[in-house]
Amino acid sequence: MKLSLTLLGLAMACLAGVKADDSTSILTADERIMLAVASTNQTGGPSPYDWPDAAPATPEVATNTSDTTVDVVSSRSEGESSKRSYKSAYNLGNIITKRHDYVTLTDGTDPRYQNAALQAPSYLTYKVISNTTSYATAKKACLAYCSSVSKCVAANMYNEIGNPLLDHTFSEKSNRKCALYGDVPTLSQMTNKGGQQLYGPNSPANCIENSAVFYLGAAAAPTTPSGYTFTFGPLDAATSASLAVGYMGYDFITQYDPNQCAKLCDARKADPVGGKCKFFNIWRGVVSGKPTTYTCSYFYQATDASTATNTGDAVNKVTVTFSRGYTRNST
Ligand SMILES: *[C@@H]1O[C@H](CO)[C@@H](O)[C@H](O)[C@H]1NC(C)=O
Ligand SMILES: *[C@@H]1O[C@H](CO)[C@@H](O)[C@H](O)[C@H]1NC(C)=O
Ligand SMILES: *[C@@H]1O[C@H](CO)[C@@H](O)[C@H](O)[C@H]1NC(C)=O
Repeated sequence: MKLSLTLLGLAMACLAGVKADDSTSILTADERIMLAVASTNQTGGPSPYDWPDAAPATPEVATNTSDTTVDVVSSRSEGESSKRSYKSAYNLGNIITKRHDYVTLTDGTDPRYQNAALQAPSYLTYKVISNTTSYATAKKACLAYCSSVSKCVAANMYNEIGNPLLDHTFSEKSNRKCALYGDVPTLSQMTNKGGQQLYGPNSPANCIENSAVFYLGAAAAPTTPSGYTFTFGPLDAATSASLAVGYMGYDFITQYDPNQCAKLCDARKADPVGGKCKFFNIWRGVVSGKPTTYTCSYFYQATDASTATNTGDAVNKVTVTFSRGYTRNST
């Protein structure tokens, strides 16, 4: 059974007095996870108030999971507590080896895209680069920055006009930003046009010019987490919670990182009957063609590609990409 978000809203309105998780319980776990992907939003980019050169974002359990529509509260609160315990032990396991093959998605001159910065998942950090050099020199500096940051696979270079921090505060005295991402975005994610009056209530709003996007054409496959065996993938279908035995729930995470899922699987509370997490499935959710979030789902029994059958949700336009399975070696 497929319920669109709109239909679900109507269903909830009809069931006055019934809690949201009661009305979604008519859905299977496979349907609920796709509905949750459709109703979450893990996209972002540098805000006009962010300072440059911050340490790149590390993968975390995503918090904006829109739990008014979908019951994801329990997995989230568990993730939050485990997040604190492993954060310091985070291991940058996923090193990209081929660092020079950048492809231009758009070069900053296309009128359809040049006036909007990226709003995409897996935002890492940004820096300010000189606006007195040529486009070619600036592009080289921006790509060198991406190459120097672990996990960077895409960069968005643009000028932000009307931001007092860039104009007066930062030492670079340049309005050209280079923002880094850990996933390859689509042109449809160039949606941030500025529009904030950063100089005060009656000032012109900030705006974006010359927005260009580059990405690594050949990113290496992720490193298999230690203590696990790579079992399948990449596929366009997630492990089905009804076909595979021992479904234990899921988390949304902010970057595509099997190592992160492995830590969450290890830290997950054992099932009273089935025992500890023995297998996880990681995949990227795409909503209406836009990469949106990353899911780890957990099972207390190992499985393989034969149960990876959940291809998404046609009604809510959710598709599954880069689905990989990993099995824990010991119990
Ligand atoms: C997602 O969240 C970002 C940051 O809060 C916001 O700017 C953007 O408009 C949101 N996108 C959607 C599709 O709601
Ligand atoms: C969460 O996602 C919603 C829906 O896209 C968005 O409107 C909201 O700004 C987001 N909240 C945060 C804290 O990012
Ligand atoms: C470069 O950026 C600075 C700071 O925003 C701005 O004052 C200056 O006009 C810009 N120069 C060019 C050539 O765009």
